[in-house]
Amino acid sequence: MFSSVTFVLLGLITASTSIEEHWAGNANGTTDANGVCQCSVHLTDPSFPVDRMEKLEMSADSLSTSVEKELLKIQESMTKISVFEKRMHNLTLRIEKMESNGLTYTELDFELLKLEIREMEMLITQLKGSFSGSNVIAEQLYAEIKNMSLTITSLEMLDKNNVLAIRREILSLKKKLQECEEYKNHTSAGPPIVYGSCNHGLISDISQPFLVQMNWRGLGHKCGAWGKDPEPVSPKKELYWQAPLNTDNRYMEYYRLYSSYDDFLLYRKPIETIFKYGQGSGMVVYKNHFYFNCYGTRDVCKIDLNTHKVAVRKPIPFAVFNNRFSYSTPWQDIDIAVDESGLWVIYATEQSTGNIVISKLNETSLEVERTWMTKQYKPSVSNAFIVCGVLYATRTVNTRQEQIFYAYDTNTEQESKISLSFSKMMENIYGVNYNPKDHKLYVYNDGYLVTYDLSFYPNAEATKGV
Ligand SMILES: *[C@@H]1O[C@H](CO)[C@@H](O)[C@H](O)[C@H]1NC(C)=O
Ligand SMILES: *[C@@H]1O[C@H](CO)[C@@H](O)[C@H](O)[C@H]1NC(C)=O
Ligand SMILES: *[C@@H]1O[C@H](CO)[C@@H](O)[C@H](O)[C@H]1NC(C)=O
Ligand SMILES: *[C@@H]1O[C@H](CO)[C@@H](O)[C@H](O)[C@H]1NC(C)=O
Ligand SMILES: *[C@@H]1O[C@H](CO)[C@@H](O)[C@H](O)[C@H]1NC(C)=O
Repeated sequence: MFSSVTFVLLGLITASTSIEEHWAGNANGTTDANGVCQCSVHLTDPSFPVDRMEKLEMSADSLSTSVEKELLKIQESMTKISVFEKRMHNLTLRIEKMESNGLTYTELDFELLKLEIREMEMLITQLKGSFSGSNVIAEQLYAEIKNMSLTITSLEMLDKNNVLAIRREILSLKKKLQECEEYKNHTSAGPPIVYGSCNHGLISDISQPFLVQMNWRGLGHKCGAWGKDPEPVSPKKELYWQAPLNTDNRYMEYYRLYSSYDDFLLYRKPIETIFKYGQGSGMVVYKNHFYFNCYGTRDVCKIDLNTHKVAVRKPIPFAVFNNRFSYSTPWQDIDIAVDESGLWVIYATEQSTGNIVISKLNETSLEVERTWMTKQYKPSVSNAFIVCGVLYATRTVNTRQEQIFYAYDTNTEQESKISLSFSKMMENIYGVNYNPKDHKLYVYNDGYLVTYDLSFYPNAEATKGV
C-alpha cells in the first residue's frame, strides 16, 4: 500500500514540467583544486512556488487517504466475495444433489434456494455499486448467480410438471379410494367376517364339500374324526390331527398330528401315537389337548399332546354310553365339541329319554359347569356341533344329501327348525367338528376327510332396524 502512495507522489512530480523549467539552465558546476564538485545555483525567478508544492503535498495526502479507503473497500469486497464463493459452492452442491436425487426434492427445497439466490443477487448488485466502473469478478459472480437462478427455475418447472403433478394425482387417487371404501362400508350387505367372534346370527349357508384327502389308514377305516386345533399352544403355529377308528368302528387306537397343512396333505412328518382306547368318533383337539370318550365308559379323557399322557379323566354324570343313545351311526354316545367359548359335551341320559343333553365343560377340570336339555331325540340325528353356544343337528336325507335341520340356542334356551341341505361324498358322516377360527366344519365321511365353509346371518340385533 505504501509503495503505491509513493508511486502516486513520484508520478505527480515527474509529470510536473514547471519544476524542471525552474531548474534548467540555472546551475553550473565546477571542480576546485581538491577535486570537489561545486555548484552554484542562480535563481532567475526569486519566488519558489511553495504554495503549489504545499498544494501538491496536500493532494498527494488526500489521494493517499482515498487510495487507502479504496483499498479497504477492496479488502472488504474480497472478504465478501470469498463468503459468496463458499455459498455458491454450497448452492452448487445442493443443486447437484437435487438434480441427481431425482424425485426427492420438495417445494420447500426450492423456496429456500430461491430465497438464498435472491439474497445473493442483491449483495452482488451492492458489490458492483461499491466499485466505480466495471469489475470482472463481480460481473462473473453476477452471471453465475443469474445462471443458477435459471437452473433453479427450470428444475422447478420440471418438478412442477412431473413430480408435483404425480403427487397430486396420487393424492386424488387416495381420496377416491377412501370414498370408494366409505361407499362400500355403507352399502355392503353384511358385516365383515370376524373369526372367533359371535357378532352374527344363525348359520345361513353351508358350502359344497371340499375333499382334503383319504385318512392315512385307508378306506377300510370308515369311522373317525379329524380337524385343526383352533387355538394351538405356541410354539405350535398350526396343529392338524386325524384319528381313524379301527375297522370295528368303535376303538380309537391311533391318532396322528401334523404341524402344517402341507405336511398333513402329504402325510409328511406325522407324530403318530398309540393310545388304548378311545371310543367312537366324538373326539376333538383344543389348545394342544385331545379330548375323547374313554373306551366302554361315560368318561371324557383329556390327553396332553406334548406328553401324550392322560392329564384328566372325568365321568359325565348320567351320560349313557355303549350305544344306548348313539347318533344314528353306532358308538357315538358321547360327542365332544368346541366353539368360540370353549369345550362342550353332547350326549343323552335316561332322564332325558334319549333327547340330546348339552353340557358346558370346564376345560381344565372337565367338571360340568352347566347343562341344557333339548327336545331332540338323539338317535334320530346323524351328528351335531356347536357354534357360539348354539347346537346344530344334522340328519340324513339320502346317500348324497345331509341336512342341518335343528338348532338349540343355549343362550336363549330356544330351539328352532332350520333346513340347510348339503352334499356329501359318501353315505355316512362320522366326526363333525366346527373350528371357530376359520368357520369350517371338519367332517370324516366314510374315511374321506372333507371340509365345509359356514356362512352366518348378520347379527339379529344389528339388523333389527333395517
Ligand atoms: C555558465 O556557463 C555557461 C557556459 O560555460 C555560460 O554561458 C554561463 O554564462 C555560465 N553561467 C553562470 C551563471 O556563470
Ligand atoms: C450448505 O449450508 C447449509 C446451511 O447454511 C448447511 O446445512 C449445508 O450442510 C451446506 N451444504 C453443503 C453441501 O455444504
Ligand atoms: C450455466 O452454467 C452451465 C454449467 O456451468 C453452463 O453449461 C451453461 O452454459 C451456463 N448457462 C448460461 C446461460 O450461462
Ligand atoms: C371400512 O371398514 C373397514 C372394516 O371395518 C375399516 O377398516 C375401514 O377403516 C373402514 N373405512 C372407512 C373409510 O370408514
Ligand atoms: C375350572 O377349573 C379350575 C380347576 O378346578 C378352576 O381353577 C377354574 O376356576 C375353573 N374355571 C371356571 C370358569 O369355573
